[in-house]
Amino acid sequence: MTVLTSTLSTTDDGFTAARAAMDAKLEELGREFDTLRQGGGEKALARHRKRGKMPPRERIEKLVDRDTPFLELCPFAGWGTRFQVGASIVGGIGTISGVECMIVANDPTVRGGTSNPWTMRKTLRLKEIAYENRLPLVSLVESGGADLPTQKEVFIPGGANFRGLAEFSKAGIPTVAVVFGNATAGGAYGPGMSDHIVMIDQRSKVFLGGPPLVKAATGEISDDESLGGAQMHARVSGLADHFAQDEDDAIRLCRDVVARLNVAKAGPRPDGVVEPRYAEEELLGIVPEDLKVPFDPREIIARVVDDSDFDEFKPLYGSSLVTGWARIHGYPVGILANAQGVLFSEEAQKATQFIQIANRQNTPLLFVHNTTGYMVGAEYEQGGIIKHGSMMIHAVSSSTVPHLSLLVGASYGAGHYGMCGRAFNPRFLYAWPSAKSAVMGAEQLADVVTSVAKASAADRGIPFDDEANDARRLAIEEQIDAESMPLFLSGQIYDDGVIDPRDTRTVLGLSLSAIATTAIESDRSYGIFRM
Ligand code: COA
Repeated sequence: MTVLTSTLSTTDDGFTAARAAMDAKLEELGREFDTLRQGGGEKALARHRKRGKMPPRERIEKLVDRDTPFLELCPFAGWGTRFQVGASIVGGIGTISGVECMIVANDPTVRGGTSNPWTMRKTLRLKEIAYENRLPLVSLVESGGADLPTQKEVFIPGGANFRGLAEFSKAGIPTVAVVFGNATAGGAYGPGMSDHIVMIDQRSKVFLGGPPLVKAATGEISDDESLGGAQMHARVSGLADHFAQDEDDAIRLCRDVVARLNVAKAGPRPDGVVEPRYAEEELLGIVPEDLKVPFDPREIIARVVDDSDFDEFKPLYGSSLVTGWARIHGYPVGILANAQGVLFSEEAQKATQFIQIANRQNTPLLFVHNTTGYMVGAEYEQGGIIKHGSMMIHAVSSSTVPHLSLLVGASYGAGHYGMCGRAFNPRFLYAWPSAKSAVMGAEQLADVVTSVAKASAADRGIPFDDEANDARRLAIEEQIDAESMPLFLSGQIYDDGVIDPRDTRTVLGLSLSAIATTAIESDRSYGIFRM
């Protein structure tokens, strides 16, 4: 029997305190999300609606199949920067006419839907997800093109964006553009390079230069419609493949286009979905606010995997890392979850062996992070901790089965790398509001900076100013703490979303379903090394 038995007590003080801390963080997240859903704000939204137009989330809602979920990705992109949170686009995975697609919609209520540096980063990340998982890309276009004051940062990534569309097409991943409004200047190549284009009567404006620019350049007097209206593109230039009467008609046409794409999923089919035996609500009280307090990741696994069934691999060896097999929404996964925070040589070797087995078994991997990194100290250095840590990082880097990462607690230093952090290209990476990630903890980092400054002063024979150092230390701690928080990291697009712990199973299930669009290809360059 491999079903987990939970020992969590929901009346315990630890649970109550952890839950209260999580509730407070979720409230903050909820407030942020409510704000970003307003797009460019009440006034801009009212003006947009007065023009008879739908905001991006409404367009998406109408586009996806009724009563199916939309997995919004990177909603907090740009948080903590001078640009609007959300980066003036809405993106995520939704099912259109039975086909899972990546939907990317400009938000014209935010500075005319223009692309700033964070829009570019978010767009490129969304496209990367679509490309890796071979999801058809559906763009809902209405944008003033480059955010001109920041042109130096968007000019080159903008080019990469258009090149990406050619790569999609070449790789046989369909691209569809529905033009709801402006797609001018460079922005015209977005639809121009898509496989299928839908334009809307009196709404679509697709031209390289608008009337003022044409007049300035050639002296010609023209208007929007003759330069780039849907009628002209459908009847004269041939740029539009489909002519829609209005927004609803365009959405209908887009659904028809997707229905005819003739795409089939090449990955595994889910089977035998069984709900976990423990309530997902209880996920809110597992991770203590103080991440130094250990917790058992099996309590999380028991509330996320099918039937709470987890077949543990090497449970008696390297016990600071839990490894084992499970299913999520019917999809098989191998799970690696930190138990005590620190990774020792045994854990690194166990992880390496487990990753190799997952590759042999064509099984995607889920990394559940709560690690402060690899163990330091003479005993561990002499025991080969660098060698073993490198081995684990090698295994993660070379593994070719899809990876998912979930940051629930700490994710520091090389531990973040070994557990398939952002730089190791997991197909999807999510964080709970309780997570923290950085080179190291704020306190430890401030300690290191202080010791280095003290040693340097002693070396140069100058007195060390303890008082000034205390102030500097505090400032460093505050800065690093702020930079380790999920919202900040999400703002930097170091994750694909901060999620409510209760949504974990759903979010991972949707991600695994998207992943199953492609066949799972294992690394077969070597057999399995016994560690
Ligand atoms: N760069 C920076 N800011 C821009 C912008 C651009 N390309 N296009 C629009 N904005 C800003 C406007 O200045 C305005 O800012 P404000 O709210 O602070 O006043 C805001 O976005 C909304 O623009 P507005 O013109 O009032 O909205 P609209 O819905 O009537 O029209 C556009 C939107 C995009 C059609 C129109 O602004 C436009 O034609 N922009 C220029 C398009 C262009 O030629 N781009 C070339 C880039 S390669």
